[in-house]
Amino acid sequence: MNKVTLVEVGLRDGLQNESTPISIENRLKIASMLQASGLKKIEIGSFVNPKWVPSMAQSEQLTKAALHKISSKEFFEDIEFSVLVPNEKGFEKALEVGVSEIALFASCSESFSLKNINSTISESFKKYNKIAKLAHEHKIKIRGYLSVCFGCPFEGDINQNIILENVQKFKDMGVYEVSIGDTIGVASVGDVEKLFNSLLDKNPASFFAGHFHNTRGQALVNILKSYQLGLRVFDTSIGGLGGCPYAPGATGNVATEDVVYMFDNMGIESGVQLDLLLNANHFISQLFQRKLPAAVGLSNGKLQPLGKVK
Ligand code: HMG
Ligand code: MG
Repeated sequence: MNKVTLVEVGLRDGLQNESTPISIENRLKIASMLQASGLKKIEIGSFVNPKWVPSMAQSEQLTKAALHKISSKEFFEDIEFSVLVPNEKGFEKALEVGVSEIALFASCSESFSLKNINSTISESFKKYNKIAKLAHEHKIKIRGYLSVCFGCPFEGDINQNIILENVQKFKDMGVYEVSIGDTIGVASVGDVEKLFNSLLDKNPASFFAGHFHNTRGQALVNILKSYQLGLRVFDTSIGGLGGCPYAPGATGNVATEDVVYMFDNMGIESGVQLDLLLNANHFISQLFQRKLPAAVGLSNGKLQPLGKVK
């Protein structure tokens, strides 16, 4: 199948690391531009404690506004919004707002789990099991994230068995997909091959997404390797914005623009139109008054390579 799905996480993973707050109106404008480019899956915000992650404040109002636009068919049509949920309180808000999809996030190291969500891994899964039951009752889809799968900023190496166990825990609670996170952008092709070979031994590739931060410039090659191993879903962030406030030194996710450029060149359909995507890049760049890390965005709109192999 020459097709991939991109899950746009710029409005969540991208903005959560920014100190300049972005208004609801501008976040909706960004969502609308992302939709116009052809993206169909957008993680729009995070129902976490705004004391911990100030830039995600007002995610409820934002999500409500976006969902209202869906129902009134003003701006958003044929698009799936999801939100990050860390606990029961976050889930109650998701329910109140009326989302159709949530993302639960767990860690593969105890230290990162405690720093990120103030719970041990097993406490977090206990909470998530309860939330999953409620979500199923309300026909809300659940996506799972696993962080620090390739290395932890506090503990270093990660035991593969923990990742396999956590994948199984998510599977048992009925998540439809697990996004495997390289939170600190430490992996390269050899690690990706090793981890996915063991995950794909027990699970179909369609159960996984790749979530690669680009700290060491390896995200694109990691996506290419994951694609070759059978993955077809990748999390990407407009402009390459992002990072996790609890992962010291981690920089942004792989840029949506760079991933679309690569897949376009390979003849692999992402459904995203690069020139329209760059409108969102330029808009965000103006908001922050700086250029964004996306390499294709930095090429100043020159979408066509200067030379091509004929
Ligand atoms: P806590 O302090 O342990 O919570 O935080 P608590 O239950 O003890 O409650 C303390 C206070 O927090 C109370 O308020 C609660 O009401 C409030 P007070 O009485 O003091 O005024 N509270 C909440 N407020 C709003 N929304 C909530 C909520 N829950 C409690 N949902 C909590 C626990 C998880 C909330 C906190 O640790 C938190 O918000 N952490 C933020 C985690 C986060 O957003 N991390 C970044 C995203 S994860 C990521 O980036 C990785 C990913 O991209 C994949 C990858 O790259 O690997 C997904
Ligand atoms: Mg992330």
